[in-house]
Amino acid sequence: MKSLSAIWMDGRFVPWDEAKIHVLTHGLHYGYAIFEGIRCYSTDAGPAIFRLDEHIERFLNSAKIYRMDLGHSAKDLSKACVEVVRRNKVTECYIRPIAYSGYGEMGLNPLTSKINVAIAVWEWGPYLGREAQTEGVRAMVSSWARINARAMPIQAKCSANYANSALAKIEALDAGYDEAIMLNHDGMVAEGPGENIFRVKDGILSTPPASSGILRGITRDTVIEFAHELGLTFYRNDATKEELYTSDELFFSGTAVGIAKIREVDGRKIGYDGFPITDKIQKMYSDAVHGRSKKHAKWLTPVRP
Ligand SMILES: Cc1ncc(COP(=O)(O)O)c(C=O)c1O
Repeated sequence: MKSLSAIWMDGRFVPWDEAKIHVLTHGLHYGYAIFEGIRCYSTDAGPAIFRLDEHIERFLNSAKIYRMDLGHSAKDLSKACVEVVRRNKVTECYIRPIAYSGYGEMGLNPLTSKINVAIAVWEWGPYLGREAQTEGVRAMVSSWARINARAMPIQAKCSANYANSALAKIEALDAGYDEAIMLNHDGMVAEGPGENIFRVKDGILSTPPASSGILRGITRDTVIEFAHELGLTFYRNDATKEELYTSDELFFSGTAVGIAKIREVDGRKIGYDGFPITDKIQKMYSDAVHGRSKKHAKWLTPVRP
């Protein structure tokens, strides 16, 4: 990772190399941390953060679910995100707000620990590579089930959830694939380790519903809005593994990955006739994040120098 200059920690800016925490930090031991993943893109009017308000709202909801008092308002956190980008003088970056139970007490009750909040940015290209956008990735249905909402609150972006994601990811990589697709405990398609999934069959776009045990992605919401604007028939419905195999098009959506085509699932080729609907959505997404779409300018928060 290329280091930048400053990281926001509990309300003040700390030089990059000094942004350290104690090894006995509570959240490190028990996974009691919540985070967000946000992106800042270059536009003709300078860098701009995509759907910042929605990400901060989800961050605060994650904190609420885990009974973390962040001690910072939505407005303060949004301002801090903008300021971190500005201070680091980057035009495009990934923004990572994180809150965690801090150093002081050990044991499973997190409520005795102070909550620390930090915001870091770094330069990060599309998570699955630029080729994922053009050529597409090869995905494998994981043997690991997505964590069940009765065990962990799925709508909270809790660090602990990502141990489940990491197991699926390394299994897929070991098997020679680029990414995993996780099924829920009922055997229905849920999501990728860090992405939502969309399917096109006979011109109909669909994605698993929130009740399938997914994170309600902000990119997913963006794609749904595009689907309405394009006049596509769109459903939130469950899909089986076989329905993935027989899809005309499949794609992942997420802040880190953007819109990434899936060209193969478990050795079954997808996209025999190309990815015409995915291409349209990808273009709309790219136009929106780079400020080329007036209609979607409401989603951009400018980072003025
Ligand atoms: C498990 C999981 N699903 C889906 C997503 C996509 O969400 P978003 O589009 O808000 O980045 C993410 C990324 O945050 C994720 O971690």
